[in-house]
Amino acid sequence: MTKGKASAPAKVILFGEHFVVYGNPAILASINRRIAVNARTTSENSVVIRSDIGVAGEYSDSGFRTIEGGMKAKTTLDPLHSAIRQVLSARGKKTGIEIDVTSTVPPGIGLGSSAAACVATVAAVNSLFQKKPSRQRICEMAIESERTVHRNSSGADCYVSTFGGLIHYSRTKFKKVQTKGPLALVIASTGVRHSTGDLVTGVKKFKDRNESLFEGMAGQAAGFCAQAQVAMASGRHDRVGELMNENQAILRQLGVSHYKADDLIDICAKAGALGSKITGAGGGGAVIALAASKQDSAKIASRVKAAGYESFEVEIDRKGLAA
Ligand code: MEV
Repeated sequence: MTKGKASAPAKVILFGEHFVVYGNPAILASINRRIAVNARTTSENSVVIRSDIGVAGEYSDSGFRTIEGGMKAKTTLDPLHSAIRQVLSARGKKTGIEIDVTSTVPPGIGLGSSAAACVATVAAVNSLFQKKPSRQRICEMAIESERTVHRNSSGADCYVSTFGGLIHYSRTKFKKVQTKGPLALVIASTGVRHSTGDLVTGVKKFKDRNESLFEGMAGQAAGFCAQAQVAMASGRHDRVGELMNENQAILRQLGVSHYKADDLIDICAKAGALGSKITGAGGGGAVIALAASKQDSAKIASRVKAAGYESFEVEIDRKGLAA
């Protein structure tokens, strides 16, 4: 039996979600919450996936068998199975594989848990064999696996999870974004889980019905990305916060906000946030708030918790994939 492991970070989107699916820019950061995957070869003719998020299953010639998690097990695990199959096929290997997934990322609220799990799985299974593929290749395979559940993925989540840091992303090209002073960030969760694929489909319908309006909104969102980079580089975090609020107004118009997200944004603003918005696909999910200092972000998180929601401060992860 050979063993291997890898871990990859979750992410937040500060600007440009949804529009990034159509080739527009987005600004994203990987955060200090990770998914770790331990992999081993087995003598069985099957792929077994276990996790600490309540789902587990086995893939073999006779199909899929749920070990834990009922109906949702297969949909959650399919991208990871696809990741494993891709690596085995690229390597020309025929072996049983077992992986254990452990996570500190709340699933289904826009923090990129599915992308991080795909990146970590591709890397962990590759580490069972000689010669490491490049990070770029790992990222491409992870995007391919993610597309088994979210067909139109922009690839942004897998890129930031693989390469880490604060990045400006557009059409598989990215560059690091410079900041003067650390960004004090808080996550506030609506507790409402979403399907990224369904929300992206909803936005496509909006776009098809309102072609020129959508173009205008995408142009505005691209403008926020450009202005935010200047504001971050010069330490104008107050301006970054204003731009986040403006981005949120567009997301609301797009129909991807949620009354609980609006409530959280209100709580964050009253607690002194410089700006806040949904992060990721929306439809519930999580809100990201920017604070002026660590002291302020702690205050925002505690106000959100006092209102009965889950909240935690996050830092930008600079490492990305660890394999
Ligand atoms: C999901 O984290 C971000 C979206 O823009 C979808 C994507 O980029 O594939 C909503």
